[in-house]
Amino acid sequence: MILILDFGSQYTQLIARRIRSFGVYTEIVPCYEDFSRCATLNPAGIVLSGGPDSVFASDAPGCDERIFSMNVPILGICYGYQYVVHRRGGVVRKGNKGEYGRTRISLKGDADIFHGVHGESNVWMSHSDEIAELPPGFRTVAGSPHSPHAASVSEDMQFIGLQFHPEVAHSECGNAVLLNFIERICRTPRTWSVEAYKDRKIRELREQIGSHKVICALSGGVDSSVTAALIREAAPEQIYCFYINNGLMRKGESEYVADIMRGRFGSHFFSINAEARFLKNLTGVSDPERKRKIIGETFIRVFEEEAGKISGAHYLAQGTLYPDVIESSPFKGPSATIKSHHNVGGLPEKMSLQLLEPLRELFKDETRELGLTLGLPPELIYRHPFPGPGLAIRIPGEITAEKLAILRDADTILLEEIRRAGLYNEIWQAFAVLLPVKSVGVMGDFRTYEYALSIRCVTSSDGMTADWFHFPHELLSGISNRIINEVKGINRVLYDITSKPPGTVEWE
Ligand code: XMP
Repeated sequence: MILILDFGSQYTQLIARRIRSFGVYTEIVPCYEDFSRCATLNPAGIVLSGGPDSVFASDAPGCDERIFSMNVPILGICYGYQYVVHRRGGVVRKGNKGEYGRTRISLKGDADIFHGVHGESNVWMSHSDEIAELPPGFRTVAGSPHSPHAASVSEDMQFIGLQFHPEVAHSECGNAVLLNFIERICRTPRTWSVEAYKDRKIRELREQIGSHKVICALSGGVDSSVTAALIREAAPEQIYCFYINNGLMRKGESEYVADIMRGRFGSHFFSINAEARFLKNLTGVSDPERKRKIIGETFIRVFEEEAGKISGAHYLAQGTLYPDVIESSPFKGPSATIKSHHNVGGLPEKMSLQLLEPLRELFKDETRELGLTLGLPPELIYRHPFPGPGLAIRIPGEITAEKLAILRDADTILLEEIRRAGLYNEIWQAFAVLLPVKSVGVMGDFRTYEYALSIRCVTSSDGMTADWFHFPHELLSGISNRIINEVKGINRVLYDITSKPPGTVEWE
């Protein structure tokens, strides 16, 4: 495995993803991780990531010095490189201009890290401090117009420093460099794959679960579906899955999920219709955070009641993914709550259950791949993300059964048209928002006074940032016509062209 020490770079997860895509397992730990834990992982190589800090900052992040005595190759990227140079007696200079974006490096002399890369290469830089002088024992192996020591190596320390970011797609030689680090320098076998992970996890789960019972809340989303499907492979007779219809789902969604899951889990699948209970609890509530809270609490209550009927349940399965684990790492600090996303938090203690999180080590795309190898249908695996509180946060203001029905019809048309145009997989999320605004229109000879609807379609790679999807105008106009003509209650359609930030994906 390759251990990545995170110094806070926005690209750290990308380093892990790239290395895993070459078939080598990686883990990210905060740079100040306890040394004994790093040693236990027995890495074949270590990567020191970039980071937003300057080595001159009073609270500049650092790592345990013993990392450098582990006798394994170390790759320092950007801040990780500057940190080592600074500590080893080289000179890092405060830059006044910085070097951002594309630049060209020229290779100097021979170095394994650049095996197969020749002459010059375009790379991606993002730094303000610069390395002015290397420590003793280091030799320059690449330079750029602004970084005379864009890459260097120290043979006795087994250290390689790169001022550029090999993990970003814009660095042409990035893949070659990372692959050289893994294969030629660390000499790690490339044996990690989702398939191998699946087999190992099933064995581990079998051992861990023993003869205990596992309960699982299935939402129909990728993470919970893959979690349940994986556990089913390990303990088919001991898993019990619950789907709770909160009345805030899209048209036909509950039936779709129930159909697939009943086929898999048979009599161990329970579909609970709690529509009326959720709507009753939401009556008169307009504030988005209160809506979320009520939905989360009602969910817990219903789940508790239903799952409580399975006597002797010991484990609660949850679809926690690796990015959730890293996000909650203390290095990132307590990030301000913009929206409180609800999950089944709070349940394990209340029901005295142990958590089972078999996807904790996987990224989203790996989870999808795993789902496919477990035989889940591709339509389910590649579905757009759908928030836990569902349509409740797509109806600003109070939720009523009438508004839900209108929104469901409009949403169905939108998705039908997007699928028909072959654009579904190009869009991260596509949905409609029923606005709490009525406007005047004219249909035939009649004046209408109906709701306005906003269409929201965004592109994104992780939901953290997003841009509005640039629709062909004809298609947009066709969608608007169909909605106004076919959905009673809407007489105006708007298209939301706000990116995130400053907007958010959802309206609430
Ligand atoms: P925002 O609106 O925060 O959305 O830009 C980012 C991603 O998170 C989803 N989202 C939620 N998911 N519970 C969820 O499970 C929530 O309360 C929630 N709010 C937003 C949103 O759909 C998008 O994918």
